Amino acid sequence: MTAPGSTAGNSAASRDKAFVLHPYTNLHAHETQGPMIIERGEGIHVFDDGGKDYIEGMASLWCVSLGWGEERLVQAATKQMRQLSTYHIFGHKSHEPGIDLAEKLIGLAPVPMSKVFFANSGSEANDTAIKLIWYYNNALGRPEKKKILSRQRAYHGVTVATASLTGLPNNHRDFDLPIARIIHGDCPHHYRNGLEGESEEAFATRLAEQLEALILAEGPDTIAAMFAEPIMGAGGVVVPPATYFAKIQAVLKKYDILLVADEVICGFGRTGNFWGSQTVGMQPDILTCAKQLSSGYLPISAVMVSDAIYRACVEESRKIGTFGHGYTYSAHPVAAAVALETLNIYEERDIVGHVRSVAPAFQSRLKALADHPLVGEARGIGLIGALELVADKATKTPFDPPGRAGALVNGLAQDNGLIVRAMGDSIALCPPLVISEAEIHQTFDRLTKALDAAVPVLRG
Ligand SMILES: Cc1ncc(COP(=O)(O)O)c(C=O)c1O
Repeated sequence: MTAPGSTAGNSAASRDKAFVLHPYTNLHAHETQGPMIIERGEGIHVFDDGGKDYIEGMASLWCVSLGWGEERLVQAATKQMRQLSTYHIFGHKSHEPGIDLAEKLIGLAPVPMSKVFFANSGSEANDTAIKLIWYYNNALGRPEKKKILSRQRAYHGVTVATASLTGLPNNHRDFDLPIARIIHGDCPHHYRNGLEGESEEAFATRLAEQLEALILAEGPDTIAAMFAEPIMGAGGVVVPPATYFAKIQAVLKKYDILLVADEVICGFGRTGNFWGSQTVGMQPDILTCAKQLSSGYLPISAVMVSDAIYRACVEESRKIGTFGHGYTYSAHPVAAAVALETLNIYEERDIVGHVRSVAPAFQSRLKALADHPLVGEARGIGLIGALELVADKATKTPFDPPGRAGALVNGLAQDNGLIVRAMGDSIALCPPLVISEAEIHQTFDRLTKALDAAVPVLRG
């Protein structure tokens, strides 16, 4: 029998167009353009179905820290598959991979944390954090204290609530979002949002003052928490001013507002410390992580909560009779076993030490591209960075229409065997953490070729 809609031929590309609804894709363009099919991976490289090799400069979606083909993770998954291929942890049930992983994460937390809740994605982890914050304030008898602060250009996920936290227009537009009680404050991007002649320090002070003004306007008793990525990722890789989080946190403390560190990208060594919170000086009440938790090999995420939040949840669940939240696959044993092995490898191979040893080469090649005629700003830290392409370097004037230059460089990089990610006209790089110094140079050599090839097209 022919499946509905299958007028297509038998090639994978035509079957893709016939059957797959792609995330984050121009679906109209896809109907003609079709997919790029990736067949296999090895180290920091992936190979398409024509055998062409690419440096995966984005570690897939900011996650494949250990690169492709890490046999120990394959073994950890296989072993666990054989022993207990799946089980849940609802209603007092448990299993060792989940217990071991929770214990391990609590031991690694950047500030004292009490308990770990497991989910399957960054979005689910952040969605869970919102629910815990609401539960917590109900437990404390503060039913009005429920609004959540986020920031313009933040990325916290795509569920109804977390897409609302995300501060990017395409995640809201025509999805009827954001939902109520979510407020977006300022993005700490000095290059774009700093005033003429304003130092980074003065910019951070102004943002903290603006945050306080926003809180006062909304009513401090109505604001429960603020979510923040240590370094903003999908919003264009924004590294905040050095004193930004110290100043922001002083304001939050003053009004008894919780801080959630979204470590979905920054966690596990990306910024040169084990947690992004350590790099930027965040002391979160809740920490969410995913992606590099399992080197992206299996879907798993975690929410770590402070003892105060955990105690409030205990009290609510005693009153109600249960803690009415959980996913079928919370702490899935195979995903948990792979995550645990990932964390063991990080320790044994001193992944943070490795990031620190190669980050200077990465950052110096990145920052050197600030001199390129198309680049307005080169920004980054550790093994994450972005180049913002501009039409005029002196005036910082963006290209018109927005996104065309980014898409062009993205395509040219791909032609040159490098996968990057264009976020508007910012080109992001976030390679596997195991990248060597020689591979960093290859990455930037390919990127430079792509940028050079874009000059005549964009400058005519
Ligand atoms: C900082 C941050 N938070 C949350 C998410 C959402 O994670 P997921 O795509 O696994 O739902 C992402 C995804 O890129 C992210 O970068």
